[in-house]
Amino acid sequence: MSTIIGIDLGTSTTEAAIYRNGVVEMILNLDQEIITPSAVGVDDNGEWVVGKRAMSQLILSPQNTAIEVKRKIGTGDFISVGGRPYSPVELSAKLLSYVRKYASDYLGEDVSHAVISVPAYFNEKQRQETIAAGTQAGLTVERILNEPTAAALSYGLAHMEEESHILVYDLGGGTFDVTLLEMFGGILEVKASAGDNQLGGKDFDEAIMNSLIKGFEKKHGINLRNLRQAMVKLKDEAERCKKALSTEDSYRVLIPAIAKVGGQPVELDVTLTRKDFEALVKPLVARTHKPIDVVLSDSGITANRIDKIILVGGSTRMPMIAADIEAYLGKTPDVAVNPDYAVSEGAAIQAAIMAGIIDPSEGLIMTDVNSYSLGVRCLNDGNYDYFSVIIPRNVTIPVSKTERYYTSYYGQTRVNIEIYQGENPNASRNHPLGEFFLDGIPANKATAESIDITFSYNMNGMLDITAKVVSTGKDATISINMQKQDEAPILSYEEDEEEASVSYDDWKESPISDAYRAIIRRAERVLKRLKDEDTIEEINDLLDDLKEAICKEDEADADDYEDELAGLLESLED
Ligand SMILES: Nc1ncnc2c1ncn2[C@@H]1O[C@H](COP(=O)(O)OP(=O)(O)OP(=O)(O)O)[C@@H](O)[C@H]1O
Ligand SMILES: [Mg+2]
Repeated sequence: MSTIIGIDLGTSTTEAAIYRNGVVEMILNLDQEIITPSAVGVDDNGEWVVGKRAMSQLILSPQNTAIEVKRKIGTGDFISVGGRPYSPVELSAKLLSYVRKYASDYLGEDVSHAVISVPAYFNEKQRQETIAAGTQAGLTVERILNEPTAAALSYGLAHMEEESHILVYDLGGGTFDVTLLEMFGGILEVKASAGDNQLGGKDFDEAIMNSLIKGFEKKHGINLRNLRQAMVKLKDEAERCKKALSTEDSYRVLIPAIAKVGGQPVELDVTLTRKDFEALVKPLVARTHKPIDVVLSDSGITANRIDKIILVGGSTRMPMIAADIEAYLGKTPDVAVNPDYAVSEGAAIQAAIMAGIIDPSEGLIMTDVNSYSLGVRCLNDGNYDYFSVIIPRNVTIPVSKTERYYTSYYGQTRVNIEIYQGENPNASRNHPLGEFFLDGIPANKATAESIDITFSYNMNGMLDITAKVVSTGKDATISINMQKQDEAPILSYEEDEEEASVSYDDWKESPISDAYRAIIRRAERVLKRLKDEDTIEEINDLLDDLKEAICKEDEADADDYEDELAGLLESLED
């Protein structure tokens, strides 16, 4: 069995670990550091740079650098780097390629298998895109593991003899997760998970930025939001300020020549106290309470029965977090794990369990829950889009549940079973997982025939769905692999048609691509030496149109774009 590493692919930072010789070991990157900033960019030579090098060019060339890509996973949005749009999957793949490279270097072997962690509150699309990013980076993703579960595994390995209820509180750069686990006899059982995948340290930085921008506008009448360079510096300083206030009582934010007033450079000079800061972010801290309430009520474990609170994620270094938890739950959080390493350590432990290196019979068996409700679309009280839940969220996996449904009109012989994941009462507002037909229902009066739908979700992430006509026993089934995906990344280009430029990198795979290769290369060569923004855009647009036509194998369209492009290039070469 080849080596499997554990990767914590974070919003702000990324870490990798390996379990070997009986211990978890953090893997060093090419700079001999454990923590890699989750940043990717294109440098002056057009080469991709990742991690610290990408981070260090952020202030000078923000347009060539992408950060916090994880926040865009599953949204369908594209991110512009060096004037070209990239999907979050492509950019995450660049990061993971780097991890793969440094892990291979560190371990002295070609690393090609990984367990990657994601927030428990990631939906199926976000999980699938994370797997797609791994695949693009040449990694076989053996398992997607919930981050708080990973953190608990890292704690559990060292405390296997304990019997307790553990609450994992993970406030990272972009996401917030809270999970309640029960540990007894070496079995770690996830009872419930909840969170907010749009809440993290980034929002604390933004709160500081907003306050500074407001103050600056009041004083100088200039809105810094319109100044890109100023905004990048401001973000950098805001994060510095936030971190300093975790240990200091006050911090002076000083940015010289941040803008010009009447042709004269003006500075931004504001001193923020910890108290000011805590008042600013009070609403953000308050947003952590609802997910805590959800895990307590879903798990049926009251606050006074929690034995340990484990803090994970860089943002838990803010003293107000521990204070807030203590006030809210009446218990002091523990400092039992390293908040930066715990998640990747847990991913490495999971990898070792999967590789058979850690023997599950010696403890550390883990059960998990499904973080989102699973069900089907049906008709209910005149609503055709009713989401009927079959497996509720936070139910322990493996689980199998059956619900009975009835035909809805006279003579109905066929039903379309649409499967969704989510919490919205309207099915179509949730994430679609798949659909199938069941036919051969005896024609009968409305509601006279019944159909049993069974959902079975196993530990390997397979969701099996069976629909059965009760009167005849005829059935149909579908299996959805919630862990792995067989097809290409789920990227619908149609959805983004209004966006001027989408990268149609698949054009090369098309059977008609050879006919157009020369003109595309020629255009790319010309692009390299052009300075005029408008012409560059015109060529890029035509290139995108051409590549799209090639992808669709529409030769008539492709020929038109080729002619147009050739004409334009000739006029430039004159
Ligand atoms: N001393 C500190 N005080 C306050 N915040 C800090 C401190 N150190 C790091 N942070 C913040 O922690 C966040 C990064 O934490 P972490 O690396 O755990 O997140 P992540 O794993 O990348 O994100 P996520 O888990 O949300 O995907 C950043 O917002 C950073 O500013
Ligand atoms: Mg994290």
